Amino acid sequence: MTKQPTDRQLVEMARQARERAYAPYSLFPVGAALLGRSGRVYTGCNVENASYPLTTCAERTAITRAVSEGEREFEAIAVITATGATPCGACRQILREFGGPDGDLRVIVADTAGRLRTFTIAELLPEGFTPDQLG
Ligand code: THU
Repeated sequence: MTKQPTDRQLVEMARQARERAYAPYSLFPVGAALLGRSGRVYTGCNVENASYPLTTCAERTAITRAVSEGEREFEAIAVITATGATPCGACRQILREFGGPDGDLRVIVADTAGRLRTFTIAELLPEGFTPDQLG
């Protein structure tokens, strides 16, 4: 079985993905590294567009990559920005969908100075809308 990366290793993978961010409008590059239950890591960066609202956040890039590769269950995601920003509301909802029935997915929020904060997705999106609520 493959050894799971540490939180710091996941942050390092997110940092490398951030270098590939396409953010010429906001100048706010974001990197993400999503750890699947399989042990595989899917990275992502934000991809902006001249039509600003079409931007894809780093977290969503990573989730979309993973799901399109057949993985749907995740242990953790590391997100890195210059300021240690937490995921936007839309990304919280998308992470919640794949964050397990109790929202146990760990969200590691890092800044480029090396500070880490860890939350669960249920903490970041309390009383969120979940698949089971569709009945
Ligand atoms: N951004 C992300 O990639 N993830 C977030 O959770 C917050 C915002 C991106 C979108 C845009 O390219 C830039 O950061 C500034 O909003």
